[in-house]
Amino acid sequence: MRSMQDKTCLITGANSGIGKVTARELAKRGAQIIMLCRNEEKAEQAKEDILKVCGHERVAIVLADLSSLTDIRRAAEQINATYDKIDVLNNNAGLIMGNKRETTQDGFEMSFGVNHLAPFLLTHLLLDKVMESPQGNIINVSSEAHRIAKLDFNNLQYEKGYSGLKAYALSKLCNILFTHELSKKLQGTSVVTNTLHPGGVASNFGKGTGSFFNFMFQLARPFLSSEEEGAQTSIYLATSKEGANVSGLYFKDKKPVKPSKAAMSDFNAQKLWEVSEQLLDIKFTVPSKINA
Ligand SMILES: NC(=O)c1ccc[n+]([C@@H]2O[C@H](COP(=O)([O-])OP(=O)(O)OC[C@H]3O[C@@H](n4cnc5c(N)ncnc54)[C@H](OP(=O)(O)O)[C@@H]3O)[C@@H](O)[C@H]2O)c1
Repeated sequence: MRSMQDKTCLITGANSGIGKVTARELAKRGAQIIMLCRNEEKAEQAKEDILKVCGHERVAIVLADLSSLTDIRRAAEQINATYDKIDVLNNNAGLIMGNKRETTQDGFEMSFGVNHLAPFLLTHLLLDKVMESPQGNIINVSSEAHRIAKLDFNNLQYEKGYSGLKAYALSKLCNILFTHELSKKLQGTSVVTNTLHPGGVASNFGKGTGSFFNFMFQLARPFLSSEEEGAQTSIYLATSKEGANVSGLYFKDKKPVKPSKAAMSDFNAQKLWEVSEQLLDIKFTVPSKINA
């Protein structure tokens, strides 16, 4: 494990589950932590818990609801104005919705918006700061659920045939495709990016959606991994030599594994990138500055 002293790590969804354990463990290794969370009360409570065990005070909260592009832009502005560099950007926050199709404040299907478009935009807005790190590391939390995804570029937001599970699976496929394309664009820079499945984890994930999936997930809780176990691959990628040196891979149990065929397609990755740029009305290019 590399020392995390002098590292600044941003973790989205750091108030709960896998994100909270990741933030706490990186803080314990000496890293400065930025917790990007949507709920101030929950974030303050999690921060207090982390401060009790991490042995320093360098833990900050940035509030943003990832279902709002305005919030994401405001949070990124705040971060860019406050920090010189970001060494680890952990796009961890994610949700699964119930069986009623809901949309973000900007009109995107919720799972696609929060799980894919939000990290896409946040990464775009913070990339200059990640490139300021001597060894920038972008870690995107995906899921084995990507294997059941049906990718139809004419129905990315499930206007037709919506279910919470289908939309979730697709958003997690998007996480891998985003990582795949981003790693290609980052070649020749000092920044790497990888993605991962954390395991089936008994966190707050899926609670309160009222869906059949949630019912089954709650039934399965005694057999699921703990939040501590679920955070191990994220922590590994943030702290290990391997995590700093490989890029574009999908990890499970701290080892690279092959994702689905759809997740390895250059065509899918490029097309998703272009569609995401169009939906967000941005041009996401990797800065030409070469750090490597
Ligand atoms: N648990 C599993 O079995 C499992 C399996 C595969 C992949 N994953 C992935 O692991 C990641 C972490 O999930 P978890 O299991 O730790 O679940 P969790 O305990 O529910 O944590 C999810 C985090 O995401 C945050 N979040 C959700 N929507 C948000 C929004 N609109 N804006 C800002 N933050 C938002 C939540 O904030 P609030 O607390 O305010 O809701 C929470 O902090 C997710 O990407 C999930 O897809 C989980």
